[in-house]
Amino acid sequence: MITIKSEQELEKMRVAGQVVAQILEELARLVKPGISTLDLDRKAEKLAMERGTLPAFKGYSGYRHSICASVNEAVVHGIPNKQPLCEGDIVGIDFGVIYEGFYGDSALTLSVGKTSGEADRLMRVTQEALYCGIEQAWPGNHVHDISHAVQKHLEGASYSVVRELVGHGIGRRLHEEPQVPNYGRLGTGAELQAGMVIAIEPMANVGGPAVRFLPDGWTVVTRDGSLSAHFEHTVAVTKEGPEVLSLRSEEKEWARKRR
Ligand code: CO
Repeated sequence: MITIKSEQELEKMRVAGQVVAQILEELARLVKPGISTLDLDRKAEKLAMERGTLPAFKGYSGYRHSICASVNEAVVHGIPNKQPLCEGDIVGIDFGVIYEGFYGDSALTLSVGKTSGEADRLMRVTQEALYCGIEQAWPGNHVHDISHAVQKHLEGASYSVVRELVGHGIGRRLHEEPQVPNYGRLGTGAELQAGMVIAIEPMANVGGPAVRFLPDGWTVVTRDGSLSAHFEHTVAVTKEGPEVLSLRSEEKEWARKRR
């Protein structure tokens, strides 16, 4: 069952989304050679608590940290550790909070210092694919219209789409129906309605689409060791169109232009 959020519930999800956005912005400022993903994790948790929210991932299925930090060939769900990030790495940071019982969930991939042209292009195209998906989040469209738009943008740039992991509905639970794959056929999947809230989260690889899980039980890496990027937003479907609840301030110019 796909839940429809009331205006009061959406208001809480807006707060959750904006707390996530502001904390990700703060973390992005800290990402430099020498900082560790565990440092970022501790900072995220502290900021969440200061704002009267709970870090959403901590305790989820036994996960022990507040962020997921996925470096280079790691696709998603990397576990924070003490190893310093290095110049030229890319790091995906995924973070969520709970505010008054409602979840917000967002991710971005960042350069550590100066990165290769290939890494820069991968990150740019994956973020664009997220926006292509978001633009399909209108009442009357179907879930896989989002999936299709993401896939087309990524494959059009000759990247491959990870299939084992998908976006999701979100609300009083982190993962609700529907699943939101990053590949699919136009006009299929559930019909979108105003009041649905979904997390759209493209994952793109430079090489092949295959992934494997590391023995830590969490980290997903590309099978061929190629670079991977991940971007995610929590998006409300409204009768005026998609509302990106986790929009960061540096993205607001983009959002304004699309109106
Ligand atoms: Co998510």
